[in-house]
Amino acid sequence: MEQENRLKTEPSPQETLRTIFGYINKIANERDVEKLLIMLADMGRDLVTADRCTVWLIDEKRGVLWSKVAHGIDRLEVGLTQGIAGYTAQKGEPIIINDAYNDPRFDKEVDKRTGYHTRNILALPIHDSNGQIIGVYQAINKMTPAAKFSPTDREHLLLAASYTGRQLESVALQEEIENTQKEIIFTLAETGEMRSKETGNHVKRVAEYSYHLARAIGFSEDEANLLRNAAPLHDIGKIAIPDAILMKPGVLTDEEREVMKNHTTLGYEMLSHSERSLLKAASTVAYQHHEKWNGGGYPRGIAGEQIHVYGRITAVADVFDALGCERVYKKAWLAEKIDALFAEERGEHFDPQLVDAYFQIRDKMYEIQRDYADRM
Ligand code: C2E
Ligand code: SIN
Ligand code: SIN
Ligand code: FE
Ligand code: FE
Repeated sequence: MEQENRLKTEPSPQETLRTIFGYINKIANERDVEKLLIMLADMGRDLVTADRCTVWLIDEKRGVLWSKVAHGIDRLEVGLTQGIAGYTAQKGEPIIINDAYNDPRFDKEVDKRTGYHTRNILALPIHDSNGQIIGVYQAINKMTPAAKFSPTDREHLLLAASYTGRQLESVALQEEIENTQKEIIFTLAETGEMRSKETGNHVKRVAEYSYHLARAIGFSEDEANLLRNAAPLHDIGKIAIPDAILMKPGVLTDEEREVMKNHTTLGYEMLSHSERSLLKAASTVAYQHHEKWNGGGYPRGIAGEQIHVYGRITAVADVFDALGCERVYKKAWLAEKIDALFAEERGEHFDPQLVDAYFQIRDKMYEIQRDYADRM
């Protein structure tokens, strides 16, 4: 890495304000921790006219400080007590070092490895709303002719850090909640599928098909991802279906079929009490994935756009997957026969728009079928 030597002028208060306003909206709306770290670092760098800025986060479990400084570059990691960042995290106080090479707290080895020349460092702790230190803001090399970080820089960066702490806390918390939700959902879904002898890959495939079908009919990335995470729970109600029916190695009687149909309502009842958007979506999917466009499905026999689009999408995904796989009661179908069924059921079982989407992304559908194939 080569040294950057472009000199800059000290920003006026107006410019400082503009910098903050320029970043604040983007930062407030960013839900991805890594992207947020990069934005916060960019804001810190501009605020104090530094050459570089890094926002470090403490990972207590793994005993490290980590950061992300640019898209496409791996996370950085240092020990909890390593370097000026580690020192600041331990001490919990802002520090300004304007002559790094004559300061015992600075470790010259880092420069040796990277070929960068560190002159000045401004570092300060980032606190969460309980006053716990959750990370460190670190700016390197003042780029104005003064070539020193000033107490004003420290105050500006402190201001940024106080805002940063709250923002990081809420995003990190949200991410943790969402990751936990996803884990719980896959575990639950796999439990359900194991009993019905459909392997865990069935739920993964249905998730992927649903995502791509949703994208094909114009869902945004976020909306399609929500469905991707909810779709694995479509058959969760099978958990409450007796073994004798669920695992019957043959065709169901009419009576058994009626019991089996309850898996939709059962799944809906299991999931519908949550206010979380993910579980709400999952309850809709569980309830409606066997409804048909022409009103001939179950459990309610609703039709057309009365059926939530999540239900219409997962209906296509679920049947596509069921047909392509061997079941205890049937052999796997060949692609030609599957395509013929979708053409025939366009506007009958399935939403015509979704059958069109199916044919539009047909290659992708079969690619997923291959990539997540069950090994017998
Ligand atoms: P599944 O095996 O995941 O099948 C999901 C849906 O795919 C079925 O919903 C049906 O719409 C479609 N499908 C699956 N196999 C075939 C097929 O050979 N031909 C046609 N035309 N469509 C097929 P459905 O029928 O409401 O069944 C719901 C669930 O009930 C099935 O989920 C399966 O777990 C169970 N099931 C249905 N029929 C039988 C059966 O004869 N024997 C056993 N053991 N289980 C059955
Ligand atoms: C979506 O775009 O997320 C589906 C629309 C709906 O929820 O009905
Ligand atoms: C929440 O955390 O309650 C909102 C997000 C969600 O519903 O999944
Ligand atoms: Fe089902
Ligand atoms: Fe299914």
